[in-house]
Amino acid sequence: MRMRKKRHLEPRMERCGELLLVRGRPCLNLKEAAENFRALFDYPTVFGNENPVELEIGCGNGGFIAELARRNPQTNYLAVEVCSNVILTAMENCMKEGIPNVRFLNIPAEILPCYLPERSVEKIYLNFSTPLPETSREKQRLTSPRFLPIYDSLLKEGGCIVQKTDSAEFFDYSLAKFREYGFRVGEVTRDLHHSEYAQENIVTEYERNFSQKGMPIYRAVAVKEKK
Ligand SMILES: C[S@@+](CC[C@H](N)C(=O)[O-])C[C@H]1O[C@@H](n2cnc3c(N)ncnc32)[C@H](O)[C@@H]1O
Repeated sequence: MRMRKKRHLEPRMERCGELLLVRGRPCLNLKEAAENFRALFDYPTVFGNENPVELEIGCGNGGFIAELARRNPQTNYLAVEVCSNVILTAMENCMKEGIPNVRFLNIPAEILPCYLPERSVEKIYLNFSTPLPETSREKQRLTSPRFLPIYDSLLKEGGCIVQKTDSAEFFDYSLAKFREYGFRVGEVTRDLHHSEYAQENIVTEYERNFSQKGMPIYRAVAVKEKK
């Protein structure tokens, strides 16, 4: 079902302008844009400091990135979300609270290389990305072979992807694709909330829903090894 457009979406997006680095896509298809269009960020200009940068893809309503930013004021965070209706909530909450170290990109992850310099990101968070079990939609899965070279290019050596999901099938698929690509997979748990990683875990909106239904949460870290 399509979500109804939020009331006064446009003026509200405008009011969040200082947090929103980019919106929409260049006038090219996604593949052409990713290959040909470059408007790379200068992080010290964006954040006013040289702190390390981490990225969340598919941030939804932004509860995770806001809490991560509160806990780690010495790290800068970029949050990507393709849906304007959803990212608006994330931005309005961060604005209200005055969280200084988060910025937002309202774009599809496919065109991240247009804006983020190569080897500039320490960590990528993929929280409850849509599993898309249909074979015909494999390319849209955020851990498919279409996306892994993008993450590889954005990550610094030794950087990593942290994935959480409720779907065993999608988790197994992702681990296989990370390994095939050459990432080293570790910190694997099939029951995050009863694991050694539970204490530091920040529960996302989707995660709360799934765990309230008694579903286990899967988590792993895929590391880009030094060459
Ligand atoms: C299932 S929701 C999870 C939201 C949040 N991470 C959480 O755990 O509560 C997945 C989100 O990813 C976004 N998304 C899906 N594909 C995307 C893409 N290619 N680029 C950016 N965002 C995407 C969707 O719009 C949606 O908001």
